[in-house]
Amino acid sequence: MLCNSDDLLLKAYKEGYAIPAYNINNLEWTKYILKACVEDNSPVILAVTESAIKYFGGYHTVVNTVKSLVQDMNVKIPVVLHLDHGSSYESCIKAIDAGFTSVMFDGSNLSLDENVDITNKIIEYAKAHDVSVEAEIGNLGADENPSEPVYSDFDEVTEFVSRTDIDSLAPSIGNVHGIYKGEPKLNFELLGSICKAVKIPLVLHGASGLDENKIKTAIFCGVSKININTDLQYAWASAVRIYLNQNKDVYDPRKIIGSGEKAIINTIKQKNILFGSNNKVY
Ligand code: 13P
Repeated sequence: MLCNSDDLLLKAYKEGYAIPAYNINNLEWTKYILKACVEDNSPVILAVTESAIKYFGGYHTVVNTVKSLVQDMNVKIPVVLHLDHGSSYESCIKAIDAGFTSVMFDGSNLSLDENVDITNKIIEYAKAHDVSVEAEIGNLGADENPSEPVYSDFDEVTEFVSRTDIDSLAPSIGNVHGIYKGEPKLNFELLGSICKAVKIPLVLHGASGLDENKIKTAIFCGVSKININTDLQYAWASAVRIYLNQNKDVYDPRKIIGSGEKAIINTIKQKNILFGSNNKVY
């Protein structure tokens, strides 16, 4: 069943664990993620970027693929279909109209006033459709791999939250998407003070490559949703590379793509345990 993320994130926030948000790239990834989370009895957020939506074929293709898999696989865990880093009002509305149950508006490259205005317009539309809204502040997505860590401004964050009615917030605490250059410099003090001040579930982007200690500290400091993309891509690509090297004559796409299934499922199962989301569906 598809649902929004409101109750899931609030429960995780109160009980001190995090809901995983795994990025999907195609039908097979969606299937593997659902399979792993069903086996783990873990709620799951399927996150889709605009470029992945384009790759799938469009917003409706994504929604129908996810809904059909949920139906055919008889999935009973809560599944959220989430637009990751929506770049505009129009993109968020398209996702909501197509059937996404959660959207993120990434206005982090806008001025505070503009970010507040557009976020509020999206919230108005989203709430009328029972859809959750995540917002970002701090420019995490501006540069995939900045040479210096980016940290959100505490006063801007608290002002942003007081002027909007967002369900969750992604601050920048030195986290980056993709592979970290050197040791990640995460500011947990900032994360903890933001959590105390805003009192809404926080989201950690760019969680691939962070060690167990950092993930646990982030959850302790108030993170209730953790985004993983690169770790799954890396696990899948490594497994497929080995399979192709060992099977030079194979040409069946189902065998090639499927050779990465176990690697994705194993990676997810380790994350679900680390995030504490396993066995949270009753
Ligand atoms: P990683 O690719 O670093 O896991 O980040 C994923 C993410 O934050 C998606 O929004």
